[in-house]
Amino acid sequence: MKTVSQRFAQREFKAGRFAVAATLLAFAAQSALLAQSEKATEIKIQADQVTGHVSPLFYGIMTEEINYSYDGGLYAELVRNRNFKEDPKDIVHWQLVQEGGATGSMSLDTGTPFNEAVPLSLKVVIDKAGGAGRVGIANDGFWGIPSKPNTTYKATFYAKAAPGFTGPITLAIVGNDGTSIRASAQVSGITQEWKKFEATLTTGNVPVTAENKFVLTAANPGTIWFGFVSLFPPTYKDRPNGFRPDIMQLLAGMKPAFLRFPGGNYLEGNTLETRFDWKKTIGDVAQRPGHFNDAWWYWSSDGMGLLEFLNWCEDLNMEPVLGVYAGYSLRGGARITLHSRLQPYIQEALEEIEYVTGDANTTWGARRAKDGHPAPFKMQYVEVGNEDGGDNQPGSYETRFAQFYDAIKAKYPNLKVIATDPVTTRVADVIDEHYYRRSEEEMASHASDYDSRRQLPMGFGKAPREVFVGEWATRVGDPTPTWTAALGDAAWMVGMERNAHLVKMEGYAPLFTRVDPDGLQWLTDLIGYNTLSAYGSPSYYLQSMFATYHGDDVLSITASGVPSKEWLPPAGFGIGNVVRPNQKVQTAGSRGPRPQRIPIVPQTGPIQQPAPQQVPLMHFDATRDSKTGAIYVKVVNRAGAAQAVHVALTGVSSVEPNGRTITLTGSGPDDTNSITEPTKIVPVIASVSGLSTDFTRTFPPYSVSVLELKTAK
Ligand code: AHR
Repeated sequence: MKTVSQRFAQREFKAGRFAVAATLLAFAAQSALLAQSEKATEIKIQADQVTGHVSPLFYGIMTEEINYSYDGGLYAELVRNRNFKEDPKDIVHWQLVQEGGATGSMSLDTGTPFNEAVPLSLKVVIDKAGGAGRVGIANDGFWGIPSKPNTTYKATFYAKAAPGFTGPITLAIVGNDGTSIRASAQVSGITQEWKKFEATLTTGNVPVTAENKFVLTAANPGTIWFGFVSLFPPTYKDRPNGFRPDIMQLLAGMKPAFLRFPGGNYLEGNTLETRFDWKKTIGDVAQRPGHFNDAWWYWSSDGMGLLEFLNWCEDLNMEPVLGVYAGYSLRGGARITLHSRLQPYIQEALEEIEYVTGDANTTWGARRAKDGHPAPFKMQYVEVGNEDGGDNQPGSYETRFAQFYDAIKAKYPNLKVIATDPVTTRVADVIDEHYYRRSEEEMASHASDYDSRRQLPMGFGKAPREVFVGEWATRVGDPTPTWTAALGDAAWMVGMERNAHLVKMEGYAPLFTRVDPDGLQWLTDLIGYNTLSAYGSPSYYLQSMFATYHGDDVLSITASGVPSKEWLPPAGFGIGNVVRPNQKVQTAGSRGPRPQRIPIVPQTGPIQQPAPQQVPLMHFDATRDSKTGAIYVKVVNRAGAAQAVHVALTGVSSVEPNGRTITLTGSGPDDTNSITEPTKIVPVIASVSGLSTDFTRTFPPYSVSVLELKTAK
């Protein structure tokens, strides 16, 4: 068994094979950057030298079910444990309601299965009721059930009853005081067969609060079985089974061009049985079994299934980047390398691709059409597995990748296949590299890594044609990044954008987190939310700013006189805290505590303290919009003092004196946004004058700026 940290360490080690040579090559080229110069800081931009092109897919998002990303997050369902399967022994998140002297009981009933996928139901026996006396069940939701004024909620439930009971059942959003009814509806006609019931509940002038439960009660004796209970608030674009509008609006602000899904560790699961088994995530939600997400140790309803991911792409105009299960789960026992045993999973991947891209007369394209989406989705990239460097069986990924690659290319020759670890027997179209760093300085110390990669001899296996930085983050901040993390991120992003000839896509990770107690399994996350609202971290605004203000031509840029700072790298590999240092160990009812993950990397010899390094305090890149001629100069000033920069531009005949700056600043390294102060750090747009092909401009302390110049060729 490998922990996340161990797996990552192995990747870092392998990446080191590139990094050693890269660092040597980089050293000479960057020595000007690395030493504090007495000269003023200067950047020279050669607008007639294009060094690469920013891929239209460059800025994207990576996502998985972690930190309650979907259930309790983007996926708008309000009822938790809606098919009663979350815990095999306890009826978690449901309470028995007995009001006004009424009495009754509730229990899990495996003798009355709801359907094949849900081989049990919740039995409610009402022994004594009548008048004000009511018995029923109450769901406490994901950290509460929200109520907002003048809002319509859609309830769905499946029920049947013993002879003699037909209802009515009252459905209500009720304050935790038990008496404040925010909205209610009644349903009758319960029969002895399973039947679907729907109702709408509309609030009036109610308070905005999460201190509510969703309650279903009856006032007459009888026995009722519930198979599935659901409650949805309004969703983005009114999609049924859809998404939280506030979070979707934040995502739209990032202008993401692609969505990498469904993981991450969530794709693989700890075992074969708990992988993302896509066929169990499609079709009627009441027929989806759900599964225990043992990668992150909580229940997944799979309401966010394959088609929902694709709808998400459609709603935000993103291209899907599909990760297919590649025969490796996190607890190595699930590894499948033999061709005869791997074949079903290769077939499963081919069928999954057909579900996404096939037209409606293919088998799985027809299934997608039946599920409500006749048109195929455009998809260019498929990723084989996730972080398979963690599979320490020699040759395992090589063998598995080759089999997937051959099968995918044979059926879909136009698809680009992404490898998650270097391979030698096939030329992967793309390699997915992950970089989690422990501090701003550590991230900034790697900001020029890709500048040197272009000079690498092709000595490391068969070098892939493109790089996808599929997961990365400066991991400082709880639960979301602080300003120091955003400065590290900015240094890294400038480095990726400057090297767009090689780095074709990037996705920060993780994308989401609940900010509530026990709502997080991984620090640090881009967007935070509770039951009522969501906010973007400083790193979120950075992503949004970079995705909005950039050109497609990368221009040659050199810097001199760049200030730097000495930094002592920590000994050993590591990715920082996975969870909060004192976080309560997550439990999932009777599944018990989550297995401990070993922190950081096991060392096999004495830990050597690396030598101090000089790390630049400023980072730059320049891109040009080939249609408008506008040049975007990005300047990251990580220093605590304002910095003057002389900008010299060649290859254009003139620059208009008036332009714009878009600036993101924090008051200091610890400054941040939060659920209570969501917009403390946001980009500010200002007009600037005095621009030309040769000018000096001062950049604020702790700032990230985009300077937009209008040019004539
Ligand atoms: O982003 C969190 C985890 O980090 C991902 O699930 C995994 O791919 C990586 O180790």
